[in-house]
Amino acid sequence: MTTEQSPEPAIRVQGIEKSFGELHVLRGVDLDVARGSIFALLGSNGAGKTTLVRILSTLLRADAGTAVVHGFDVAAKPGDVRESISLTGQFAAVDEILTGRENLVLVARLRHLKTPGAVADELLDRFSLTEAGGRRAGTYSGGMRRRLDIAMSLIGDPPIIFLDEPTTGLDPQARIEVWDTVKKLAQGGTTVLLTTQYLDEAEQLADRIAILHQGTIIQNGTLAELKQLLPPAQVEYVEKQPSLEDVFLSLVGATGTEKES
Ligand SMILES: Nc1ncnc2c1ncn2[C@@H]1O[C@H](COP(=O)(O)OP(=O)(O)O)[C@@H](O)[C@H]1O
Ligand SMILES: [Mg+2]
Repeated sequence: MTTEQSPEPAIRVQGIEKSFGELHVLRGVDLDVARGSIFALLGSNGAGKTTLVRILSTLLRADAGTAVVHGFDVAAKPGDVRESISLTGQFAAVDEILTGRENLVLVARLRHLKTPGAVADELLDRFSLTEAGGRRAGTYSGGMRRRLDIAMSLIGDPPIIFLDEPTTGLDPQARIEVWDTVKKLAQGGTTVLLTTQYLDEAEQLADRIAILHQGTIIQNGTLAELKQLLPPAQVEYVEKQPSLEDVFLSLVGATGTEKES
């Protein structure tokens, strides 16, 4: 594989459409994700975040539009795309009977790596799981389990990782652990596309945030850019900056987004 050092984005999505029967979930989605960045796809429950991630990870075919991941068209080169990505879903793929280390070794074996034990130990260290590595994963806290899940998805060093709602269902402490993990990943050069319904998660992690609403990206920018969409509220001498929550609610409406189904 020739690796070009061009400024081509890690992910380029153009005009992606997807319907399930009469339900038009994606109605022309466009976005670019820069290499080495953390990109948050923000949207309410049912907005179509998972649908887009499944298209980008070749699990689902789009009805229209194109998506290029790591230089490969998802429809034309699904095998190359799969070799370039990992996908971690909302529900961890961890085997609870195995220890943390055994889970990692198993995946490394499945990926035909030469030194599965060394790979496992390096990942345990990187994710602060060395001490817990010999314990059954079933005994792990939610945050440890999710960290192990992310570690498993990194075996083989994929340049791009999809995290679909990585912290849904986690307690606040575990969420912070996962956030730290994601930040470290991006510092190491991995491109991260994460989906979330949590405004604070996007605010904490993302270099860019795109809001998916009623089938399209209605806003896409840095946190600072999104905040500029609303004028600061003037209260006497104190200037209150709008929060991402203010911006989000003003864009999508405070009433929720339940669409026709
Ligand atoms: N395979 C499917 N068949 C029918 N409807 C689906 C299917 N997958 C998703 N949907 C519907 O598409 C919409 C978007 O789903 P999803 O992408 O999972 O949203 P999100 O991840 O943003 O919560 C929802 O209304 C969901 O019920
Ligand atoms: Mg989802």
